[in-house]
Order: sequence, then structure tokens, then C-alpha cells
Amino acid sequence: MSPSETVLVTGASSGIGAELARCFARDGTDVVLLARSEDALNDHAASLSDTFGVATHVLPADLSMPGVGREVVDRLDEMGLTVDVLVNNAGFGTRGRFAVADEQQQLDMIGVNVSALTHLTRLLLPGMLQRGRGGVLNVGSTAGFQPGPNMAVYYATKAYVLSFSEALAQEVDGQGVTVTCLAPGPTETDFANRAGMNNAFLFESGAAMSSAAVASHGYEAFRRGDSLAVPGLSNKAGVFATRFLPRSVASKVAAYLHGDE
Ligand SMILES: NC(=O)c1ccc[n+]([C@@H]2O[C@H](COP(=O)([O-])OP(=O)(O)OC[C@H]3O[C@@H](n4cnc5c(N)ncnc54)[C@H](OP(=O)(O)O)[C@@H]3O)[C@@H](O)[C@H]2O)c1
Repeated sequence: MSPSETVLVTGASSGIGAELARCFARDGTDVVLLARSEDALNDHAASLSDTFGVATHVLPADLSMPGVGREVVDRLDEMGLTVDVLVNNAGFGTRGRFAVADEQQQLDMIGVNVSALTHLTRLLLPGMLQRGRGGVLNVGSTAGFQPGPNMAVYYATKAYVLSFSEALAQEVDGQGVTVTCLAPGPTETDFANRAGMNNAFLFESGAAMSSAAVASHGYEAFRRGDSLAVPGLSNKAGVFATRFLPRSVASKVAAYLHGDE
């Protein structure tokens, strides 16, 4: 019998993260669900253990807080949990001009989308390498492939996630551990609402995928050990096109698609 597996999913209280946790649980993986909304995490944990019979744990945390990565790992140790798979999914975006954007919110975005993702990976990857199994699934975005005027920090954080993940995938190659970057395009979650972009062409055009379809695409890619997963034909075509467009043009297209405030 193969040893049991535990996954830590950040941003598991809703959207893509909640669905990614479901994918792992469906295959018998025990899950640790992390986000700020403790009630939503408890509800999801109960539903996953009832449906799939896996062990579930809830770890409420605010990933925008400096040093939170270390606190999370300390709490995992206290709970006696070994994380085989880390899913860095928590993230958010805001729309608007950088020069007038809420200062703290921009820093928090880097905190959640970049710093916490990097710190958790740094703390949990060595154990995976030592055991020679497991891996990291980072949720980036198609936003990571070009600059995004009026969402400048969000696009930059996702460019970081893409670059960081692809570099790590090569570093760990051949050691039993894999790193995957899931880069979704518009997806039906709370993201657009929280980012204040429900009226953006990207989300109004009907092109948004369901969070279940996006998660399942990323999960399968992770299980295959792919370094990059772009779900959906139109997202794949968009990413492919950015290779040939001058970056100044690609960033104008991005600005048009997500719109101004
Ligand atoms: N939806 C899209 O169109 C889209 C497209 C490309 C990429 N993505 C990426 O997909 C990922 C998941 O987003 P989603 O679309 O599923 O949106 P969502 O439904 O808003 O989910 C975001 C998750 O992140 C958690 N989170 C946010 N801030 C946090 C913080 N400070 N500390 C801990 N957890 C925090 C939220 O939980 P709490 O609020 O309970 O803390 C929630 O569980 C994000 O990285 C996003 O950038 C989304």
C-alpha cells in the first residue's frame, strides 16, 4: 500500500482553492485547508471528509502578515502533520491606477501572492526533497505573461509566480519532486468581485471558466508533473500570442481586457 499523502491548500475557503482541495480529497489525499475565513474552511473540511473519507484539518491564517509562513509551518508541526504537497493558491488582485491605489492593499497583495508563496515553498520543499516525493502547485495566472496597466502589481506578482515556478521545476527535476504553475484565465469565483472588475470585458464576455474545470486541469497537470498548465483553449491561444506580440502591444491588449476602474 502506498503511504498516505497530505496536501496543504492555501486560499481553500472558496473558488479555485476549494476545488483543488476537492480534487486531492477525491483521490484519497488528506487535506489541510488554509485561509482567513474559518467558518468557510470548517464547512468545506466537513464536506470533504464526509464525501471522500479523508482526514481534514483547518488552519486559519492571514497570509499578508509578515513572517506568517514560519507560523504556519510551526502550527503544522504542532498538529503533527507532514506536508507532501503544497498548493499555493491564495491570492487577490485590485484594479486601478497604481499611483492612487490603496498603499497597504498593494503591499498586502505582494505579501499574499509573492512573499507567503515563496516562504511556504522555501520551508516545505526541503522536506519533500529529503523524502523524494511530493511537490508544489502554484496558482499563477495568464496575467503573468505580460504587463497589466491598471492592475500593475497583480500582473507583476503573477509574472513572479510563473518565473519562480518554472525555475524551481528545473531545479528539482529528477529528484522525485515536481513543481507546476497553473495559469488560469478568467474564472467564475469571487476574484472579479473582490478586484472590483465584474464589469470588465474579460468577465463579461462569457469566456470565464468554472473553478471546478480550472482546478481539475491544474490537478491533472500536477499529477503528470507538467511545469505549466494553462486551462482552456482561448487562454492557451492568448498565452501563445503573447510570444509574438511586442510587449507594449500585449500590455495594451491586457489593459483593454480588464478595463480601467
Ligand atoms: N478567478 C480568476 O479569474 C483568476 C484568474 C487567474 C488566476 N486566479 C488566481 O487564482 C487564485 C484563487 O483565486 P480565486 O479566483 O479562486 O478567487 P477567490 O474565490 O477570491 O479565492 C481567493 C482565496 O484566497 C484566500 N485569501 C485571500 N487573501 C488571503 C489572505 N490575506 N490570507 C489567506 N488567504 C487569503 C481567500 O480566502 P479568505 O478571504 O477566506 O482569506 C480565498 O480562499 C488566486 O491566486 C488568483 O490570483 C484567479
